[in-house]
Amino acid sequence: MSMKYRHFGNTDLKVSEIGLGCNKLGNSLFDKSKEKDNIKLVHQAHELGINIFDLSPSYNYGDTEKMIGKAFKGNRQHVIYSTKVGRLPSSLAKYAKKMMPIAGVLRPFISPFKKSLKKASKSQFDFSENQINTSLQKSMLQLQTDYIDLFLLHNPSIDILQKGDVFEVLEKLKKEGHIRYYGVSIDTAEEAKLAMQYPVSALQIPFNIIQQETAFNIFSHINPQKNPGIMVKTPFLRGLLSSKKLIREEYFTDKMVNQIKLKNAEFDFLTNNRNLNHIALQFVLQHSQVSTALCGTTSIHHLKDNIKHDSMPPFSQTELEKIKLIQEKYPF
Ligand SMILES: NC(=O)c1ccc[n+]([C@@H]2O[C@H](COP(=O)([O-])OP(=O)(O)OC[C@H]3O[C@@H](n4cnc5c(N)ncnc54)[C@H](OP(=O)(O)O)[C@@H]3O)[C@@H](O)[C@H]2O)c1
Repeated sequence: MSMKYRHFGNTDLKVSEIGLGCNKLGNSLFDKSKEKDNIKLVHQAHELGINIFDLSPSYNYGDTEKMIGKAFKGNRQHVIYSTKVGRLPSSLAKYAKKMMPIAGVLRPFISPFKKSLKKASKSQFDFSENQINTSLQKSMLQLQTDYIDLFLLHNPSIDILQKGDVFEVLEKLKKEGHIRYYGVSIDTAEEAKLAMQYPVSALQIPFNIIQQETAFNIFSHINPQKNPGIMVKTPFLRGLLSSKKLIREEYFTDKMVNQIKLKNAEFDFLTNNRNLNHIALQFVLQHSQVSTALCGTTSIHHLKDNIKHDSMPPFSQTELEKIKLIQEKYPF
């Protein structure tokens, strides 16, 4: 069970085929005691061969970047930081951060409303030159580094991608040496195709055994040696594709959850000693266009289990054809 590495598109980076998605790693409003465990987890991830860590200054109000900065202080040159820009915490979240010191006292009063508060806190976006420079400086400070390996626009709108002036700002930062490469985190194939009109080195895309549309609409345009490196976000569909069978309604409507459950049940034929996480990872990594699957986890046990996917037999042609039929039956 040893980690494999893949070229990252047209860059000189070699990334572990499993990367660590860090959006859940960081102090939360209600629990400030997580840092020690999180640092242990990212060290363990690194020891297991993971060299790419996906971040954003918006994750946990900046605490995720701060924790990673502490974890790899003195070891910076051995890790690849992918962080983002343009997505700002909502004003509600900023307010919540200010309340952090007294969160313990407020907890019993706030807890019943946590779900509705979360829904109310929609992110805001700003891709202006000023915001890009400020955010980069902040990320470098939090990560205790003077360069970022991969700097991604965090879900820019079609309008921003069409205008394109944001890429001139990124190119300038690259020339100045603050960032090694830049790219875009997108959701749709239309966004990906627009982004690829610029000299981007990274595309972060949603791709998993259930959500295949964006990836298959762009894979035929991707030459792994020449084009941007493909990093997959949500390989476990935010936990819905996991042996935990956890249902995360906050991201999906009831109709979608039911559809996913029906589809998951059809993957039983793939089991063959694999659990649902292994199936999900094998599916994503069996595509050579993918450089790394960013697996989100807060558990060392899950991390180790995910790496085991590699010891399972690859899907046969018949299995791949059956997966295709299931996809056609339940488009998502
Ligand atoms: N807009 C964007 O740019 C964007 C959006 C979404 C995600 N991302 C990136 O992609 C990364 C991954 O996305 P994600 O974390 O939302 O979703 P994900 O990786 O598809 O799923 C994460 C969920 O899977 C569970 N899981 C992982 N391994 C497991 C195992 N072996 N057994 C059981 N459960 C397991 C995790 O629970 P445990 O914690 O209990 O293991 C967690 O609930 C993020 O961290 C982030 O870096 C970027």
